[in-house]
Amino acid sequence: MKVGIDRIRFYTPRWYVDMAKLAKARHEEPGKYLIGIGQSKQAVIPNTQDAVTMAANAADQIINDNNRDQIDLVLFGTESGIDNSKSAAIYLQHLLQLRADIQSVELKQACYAMTAGIQLAKDHVLAHPASKVLVVGSDIARYGLHTAGEPTQGGGAVAMIISADPKILAIEEPSAHYTADIMDFWRPLYATEAVVDGKYSSQEYIDFFDRTLTEYQTKTKSSLADLQAVIFHLPYTKMGLKALKSVLNRTDERHANQLLREFEYSRIFSREVGNLYTGSLYLSLLSLLVNSENLKSGQKIGLFSYGSGAEGEFYVATLQTNFQTAIESGSIKKVLEDREELSISEYETMFNSQMPLTNDNFVTNDKLDSAKFYLAGQKDQQRLYRRREV
Ligand code: COA
Repeated sequence: MKVGIDRIRFYTPRWYVDMAKLAKARHEEPGKYLIGIGQSKQAVIPNTQDAVTMAANAADQIINDNNRDQIDLVLFGTESGIDNSKSAAIYLQHLLQLRADIQSVELKQACYAMTAGIQLAKDHVLAHPASKVLVVGSDIARYGLHTAGEPTQGGGAVAMIISADPKILAIEEPSAHYTADIMDFWRPLYATEAVVDGKYSSQEYIDFFDRTLTEYQTKTKSSLADLQAVIFHLPYTKMGLKALKSVLNRTDERHANQLLREFEYSRIFSREVGNLYTGSLYLSLLSLLVNSENLKSGQKIGLFSYGSGAEGEFYVATLQTNFQTAIESGSIKKVLEDREELSISEYETMFNSQMPLTNDNFVTNDKLDSAKFYLAGQKDQQRLYRRREV
């Protein structure tokens, strides 16, 4: 039985900052951000959006009256959790009006958690073929104003339905994993911004890619030449390019150029949004599927997932018949087209207006945000989630 991605959509808030202007404001050469880091725009997250509302705004696009009652498991990958105890998945299950007799769980392993969710979902569907699983990855990537990580911020959510006989991609067996206890990026309980050793993290990312790809090729006796494209978790888009270039000597020149060309398609959306943490690899997937004109059903795509701390996974998925129709490219492009640019000072104000992590009551600027799901504030230590009838 084939199991994989049946539907997939994406949400990011409607504000962004231009990276050339941010570079100038930070007294850097624009080329460093645009080429050296590989980012053109960066999503700015208002205080009306958090991991839960962004997930709801993404998932709402793929849930309708035909599939709502078939969803019996919600897996929510995030490293921007809003509670140390209660799962973000329960808020999501409620906002989306899913059935009550289902399982809803939050998963954490930095940017890897959505991939963990997809693989767990696949096994669940193999055991229960009629089931549909909602898997989301939703995060706000924050490093802080005037930090080295600032040009690699961003945010948003990707939601997908994993089912039998998927319309878009079938996930193949086996995967290759590598996990090691390293301190390249983490966020202690007292911190709202991550602690990161960016250079070390970039080296480890490439090492984990090398190890998992090698392990995958050994297990499957396959070669890089079997893949139409290889896509990556993109903390910043140059990171994926560096990792891809590190293995191009494993294939011939013609195929190496093909992988480079497909990589360019896969990074178009991340260039415009920045880091999504858990959803980042799957924004690369959407970008490839929407923008590449070379893809055909039956072709195989390699996916590299990396979550600092660290865990890496390499796996392969096969494009299904009529995947182009199932992608709904126009709606996906519209999320990016309908955005507004903020000046640097407007971005800094929005960045600093996040709801404080205290027990005080708080009211957000909800008149500003027209998204269907939004955070109205906090009252009596409870987040106030709202669903707008649109
Ligand atoms: N034109 C083109 N490229 C330029 C340039 C210019 N004018 N100026 C600099 N560059 C290049 C540098 O050569 C470098 O390229 P390289 O990485 O291929 O060597 C790149 O821009 C970045 O410059 P660098 O001086 O290394 O930047 P930095 O010290 O500010 O750090 C990061 C960049 C990405 C390491 C930093 O933003 C960071 O730590 N981000 C967090 C990302 C992360 O680790 N996430 C978790 C991983 S999963």
